[in-house]
Amino acid sequence: MLALAAAAALPALAPLAAQDDGAAAPEPALAVDLERGLPAWRAIVAVLAHPRCANCHVEDNRPRWSGPSYGATRAHAFNVRRGADESGFGNPGLRCMTCHFETNSAKPHGPPGAPSWHLAPAEMAWFGKSSAEICAQIKDPERNGGRSLAEIAVHVRDDALVGWGWQPGPGREPAPGSAEATFAAIERWSAAGAPCPEPD
Ligand code: HEC
Ligand code: HEC
Repeated sequence: MLALAAAAALPALAPLAAQDDGAAAPEPALAVDLERGLPAWRAIVAVLAHPRCANCHVEDNRPRWSGPSYGATRAHAFNVRRGADESGFGNPGLRCMTCHFETNSAKPHGPPGAPSWHLAPAEMAWFGKSSAEICAQIKDPERNGGRSLAEIAVHVRDDALVGWGWQPGPGREPAPGSAEATFAAIERWSAAGAPCPEPD
């Protein structure tokens, strides 16, 4: 029976396999559990879209100043830019680490700090994006640094710039929850087939 079913399925599959136009193979069908997956995603996106994370995950060349401690949302002062070399470390003469050290300034509105402070690549943008858009980005290896979801979870748990989001220094609202709780939410979401919400 099984062999027969497989043989019967072959002719239908063959034309697909023959189409070698470089398009990605269709994802294997996962059992998607929306009831477990969507609440897990909401916990994750509450972190990613929070100002402590999104201020560094922008699609243009300017880090943002946003969140309660800033009042109005605006581009980073002092004409700070991503950097002509697109590295995210700033333009020569105004590198991020001229002001942002390895630890937070002790003063409110002083420069926050973590090792190797720099802007996330433009393709990893979340600032101003919808939950559905952020969800599509985070799952796309072309735009997430070639990471599996397991690797995304580990990055969130262990990376120093991410960790800063929960230790942002005086006067700054931390991201919700903790690195460990976000790691666990990504694992739950992934086990539930990593569903994304409907676009707004
Ligand atoms: C100071 C800037 C900065 C802050 C703040 C920051 N990030 Fe990032 N983030 C980066 C950089 C730079 C990369 C690219 C690192 C790489 O690919 O190796 C990155 C990459 C990532 C990635 C992997 C790529 C992707 O888009 O899937 C995740 C996940 C991530 N950050 C999560 C967070 C979370 C969660 C927070 C807040 C708690 C945060 N980041 C705060 C700079 C920042
Ligand atoms: C001339 C000094 C200076 C330079 C250079 C600089 N920053 Fe800043 N940055 C600051 C100060 C000061 C603050 C805090 C302002 C406040 O709290 O009112 C800040 C805040 C930020 C924030 C907001 C953090 C939050 O509260 O969420 C981000 C993101 C940021 N900087 C990224 C960068 C990046 C990326 C670079 C390099 C491309 C850079 N900065 C270069 C001084 C600087």
